[in-house]
Amino acid sequence: MRLYIGVDLGTSAVKLLLMDAQGGIKNVVSKEYPLEFPQPGWSQQNPEDWRKAVLEGISELLKGFNGADVAGIGCGGQMHGLVVLDKDDNVIRPAILWNDGRTAKQVEYLNETIGKEKLSALTANIAFAGFTAPKILWMRENEPENYAKIAKIMLPKDYVNYILTGVHACDYSDASGMLLLDVEHKCWSKEMLDICGVSENQMPKLFESFHCIGTVKPEIAKALGIGEDVKVAAGAGDNAAAAIGTGVVGEGGCNISLGTSGTVFISSKSFGVDKNNALHAFAHADGGYHLMGCMLSAASCNKWLMDEIFQATDYAAEQAPITDDKLGENHVYFLPYLMGERSPINDTNARGTFIGMTMDTTRADLVQAVLEGVAYAIRDSVEVARSLGIEIKSSKICGGGAKSPLWKKIIANILNAELECLESEQGPGMGGAMLAMVACGEYETVQAACDKIVHVASTVKPEPELVAKYEKCYQQFKKIYPACKQLFADFAKP
Ligand code: XUL
Repeated sequence: MRLYIGVDLGTSAVKLLLMDAQGGIKNVVSKEYPLEFPQPGWSQQNPEDWRKAVLEGISELLKGFNGADVAGIGCGGQMHGLVVLDKDDNVIRPAILWNDGRTAKQVEYLNETIGKEKLSALTANIAFAGFTAPKILWMRENEPENYAKIAKIMLPKDYVNYILTGVHACDYSDASGMLLLDVEHKCWSKEMLDICGVSENQMPKLFESFHCIGTVKPEIAKALGIGEDVKVAAGAGDNAAAAIGTGVVGEGGCNISLGTSGTVFISSKSFGVDKNNALHAFAHADGGYHLMGCMLSAASCNKWLMDEIFQATDYAAEQAPITDDKLGENHVYFLPYLMGERSPINDTNARGTFIGMTMDTTRADLVQAVLEGVAYAIRDSVEVARSLGIEIKSSKICGGGAKSPLWKKIIANILNAELECLESEQGPGMGGAMLAMVACGEYETVQAACDKIVHVASTVKPEPELVAKYEKCYQQFKKIYPACKQLFADFAKP
């Protein structure tokens, strides 16, 4: 039996799974690590914590299995994070993550001085605070000694791949989110590298996600009890990996991921750009391309409300009072901008906001407002896609938030789209393992792996009456951010 390890290097934890070539999940392990918020809107993590969690996690995953059966490893990882190593391969500073908002000034420089048009022509995207290039500029301005030490630049999952193989590699889907890649032609943009003052030899070598970057280093193979011939796939950004895991490949598929972030991912065989750049235009892990809207706080809004505010552990019990008759009737609204927001408003100053409470507002109304607020914000990205002529009548859904039947019902009705739920909800980890299978020759293409492994288990259908009610609510929701926008900017002033 040949086994594959899928790694989902997330923001709160790494999730690892062991899979056979038919998609049978043999074991799953999850290891948490800390997330630092050193200042409001800043977000960092220590790459050493990822290294430890992944290596310990793989050892735990393989307990009771024969390590010699492992054929390949593939990783899907949180995107955009800046990991910098010095000439001796030491990590220079904590990684600055995808949901970090410290680079407002550098984003303004890129979008206004360099200009959105030029950025879009060079990279198919404009600057957003979480993207990697503005973080490099931030380091140059704020930590010149650290910046001067940079020998290698990498993304979070590429650091893991580097630990495993010693190869400095990156795949096109993840590289797309650096604002340094010419996405259409799949090569580094010399001009963008110049703008950031970095050279191509500081950058990783580029691969398709399903290609093998190398084999595990002998000392790693020994420590993990696996063969030295175990292949490591280039892997993918977590959203592209999740799309593989939900079978969203080729033309016109859609996947919604309800994790720490919330994303709407639309796959395409050919390259295309949203002319307003509200949606990201990135390469996909199947060799094609995709458009994506990303909201910075999705399931994390509900986690924040449960853990920090209500100190509740039973999420389902908190949702139980939200019966069908309450849907589309809530008088409380929530803006889910707890870390600022990326798509489509691109505003680092935006903040989480409850509005509409009265003396009869209940705890459950607030829970409902959070679930609905996230769904309305997802609809904002879906509406951008629809305005480009892309039909979204149905979507796959994955991520921690997709475990809640209530949340799926709310989203299906707010989007007026069917949601297809998969037999296995392992998103990025499963996609990572499938990429490893293709890299090892188990399947010829990513599409072939999806056809064999991914199966829809159930569908949540929108209900016309509820769709109509939620349509009215969405029109109300849409008025809240424009009314608060200037306030958020004023509040952000020192
Ligand atoms: C996508 C993005 C997030 C992270 C989450 O652009 O920033 O979805 O990849 O891990």
